[in-house]
This record gives sequence, structure tokens and C-alpha cells, in this order.
Amino acid sequence: MTYSAIKTEVHDRVGLIQINRPKALNALNTTVMQELSTALEDFDADPDIGAIVLTGDERAFAAGADIKEMAGASAVDMIKADRIAIWDRIRNIKVPVIAAVSGWCLGGGHELAMGCDMIVASETAIFGQPEINLGVIPGAGGTQRLTRAVGKALAMEMVLNNRNMSADEALRYGLVNRVAPVELYLENAIQLANEIAERAPLAIRFGKEAINNAFESFLADGIADERRSFYFLFSTEDQKEGMQAFEEKRPAEWKGI
Ligand code: CAA
Repeated sequence: MTYSAIKTEVHDRVGLIQINRPKALNALNTTVMQELSTALEDFDADPDIGAIVLTGDERAFAAGADIKEMAGASAVDMIKADRIAIWDRIRNIKVPVIAAVSGWCLGGGHELAMGCDMIVASETAIFGQPEINLGVIPGAGGTQRLTRAVGKALAMEMVLNNRNMSADEALRYGLVNRVAPVELYLENAIQLANEIAERAPLAIRFGKEAINNAFESFLADGIADERRSFYFLFSTEDQKEGMQAFEEKRPAEWKGI
């Protein structure tokens, strides 16, 4: 399979997927999300693969959903295209998925990392939900998974006031499993994935499912509410202004309409 926006490799029993849009800081456009979902499902179906590592590059895991792709969309466009629905395919992967995160891990990129089963971060990783700067909110599970992972206080600051979180802070809050020097984080993630991939496959599968059930039960209602609000915000002038201002590299002027 040849891809244009991701790369894949196999390391022993680990499938490695790298998001490959470095010029756009690995922003998650439709092609990335489609190729990513397909690659995850292909590795998941391969009996020689026992775990998957998902990564970006040293500068960015992913700086969010592609703002330029959705800036002009109306709420009706967003509901009809239901862009976030593809993320449900990632939730259904059965083998453990480890995010190896360096640099910017923002918005949809942070939501993607939190949707994985574990996170290995480099010391340079920066986690954040900056959607408020664009006049919208997280739309791919951020308000739900972040709140469960770090608690209400920090989640409020991150979602309402663009407060970023460093790798060490993320480790203290239990959002990430390990922090490694930037030259080692990927190797570290692949090593952890290979250790897991060597273990009893069915027990791993049921263990992952059981822990995610503990973490994610009742999550579906919250995710659906969040997704509706995210789409609804595309009917506001503030969303148009916020995303246009990002493209024009200027501060947004908010009107509250
Ligand atoms: N979408 C589209 N393009 C993006 C992008 C994004 N999310 N993030 C960065 N880029 C592009 C920039 O436009 C720029 O492209 P050009 O060279 O063509 O101008 C290129 O990547 C490099 O970015 P910068 O020049 O801005 O790099 P920087 O080092 O000065 O700043 C940054 C880095 C702080 C991460 C900044 O790029 C930024 O703020 N990015 C946007 C982050 C964001 O708002 N993410 C949330 C998106 S909405 C979302 O994710 C919704 C959801 O929940 C699903």
C-alpha cells in the first residue's frame, strides 16, 4: 500500500505509522485521517503485528485538525461531512496503540494521542487544546478524555484559556506513560510496543478493552455532545473570524455572534 501523507514500517512485531506532513506541522487533513485509519486497520488485521506505534516528527506530533481545510465550512457542511466520524475507526483498533509524541501535540493532534492507549513523550512535547483561539472547542473527544485524564481544573484552563502542558507536567498528571530525551522517545516507544507485542495476544486484547471500558464508559454521550457543539460553532461569525485570522497570521477580533 502506498500512502501520500503517512509512512509505515514494521519493527519486529510492531507496526510503525508516521504522519508525514512536516511543512504543515502534521496537521490532520482528510487524507491523513483516511490513510491513518486504513494503516491502523491493516496492522490490526495482521497476525504478525502485536502493537502499533503512531508518531509524527521531532517538531510536531500533530498541530491539530487542518484549519485551512475547514475554515470556510458552515455548520451544515460540518454535520453533513461528519469529519470526526472517521475517528471512531481508530477507537475500534484491537491491538494496543502507543503514541510517540515530540513537539507540538495540539487540538486534534492531542485528541489523537489521547485516543491511543499509551503515550511516550519526548522532553520537548507540548500538549494543548488551542481551539478557543479559533472560536471553537475541541471536536474529537478532547473535552471528555482530557478531563478524565487530568481532572476538571486543568482541563478547564486548557480548553478555555489555551493553557499548554509540558511533558513533565503531563507525566505528573498521568496523561503520559514515560518521558524520554528527544533522540530516544521513538526508540523507547517501539521498545515498549515490542515488549507488549511479545505477550499473550488475547489477554492483551481483553486487557486493553477492559481498561478502556473503565476509562471510557459513558464517554459516548459526552463525545456526541461535544461533536454537535463543535459542528454548531461553524454557524458563528467568530469561527469564521478565528480561522481566517489564523490563516492571515493576525489576532482575531471576537464579536460573540
Ligand atoms: N492546520 C493547518 N495548517 C497548520 C496548522 C493547522 N492546525 N498548524 C500549523 N499549520 C501550518 C501553518 O499555517 C504554517 O503553514 P505556512 O508555512 O503555509 O504558513 C506551517 O504549518 C508552520 O506553522 P507556523 O508557521 O504557524 O509555525 P510556528 O512554529 O510559528 O507555530 C504553532 C507553531 C504554535 C503550532 C502554530 O502553527 C499554531 O498555532 N497552529 C495551530 C494550532 C491549532 O489551533 N490547532 C487546533 C486546530 S482545530 C482542531 O484541532 C479541532 C478539533 O478538535 C478536531
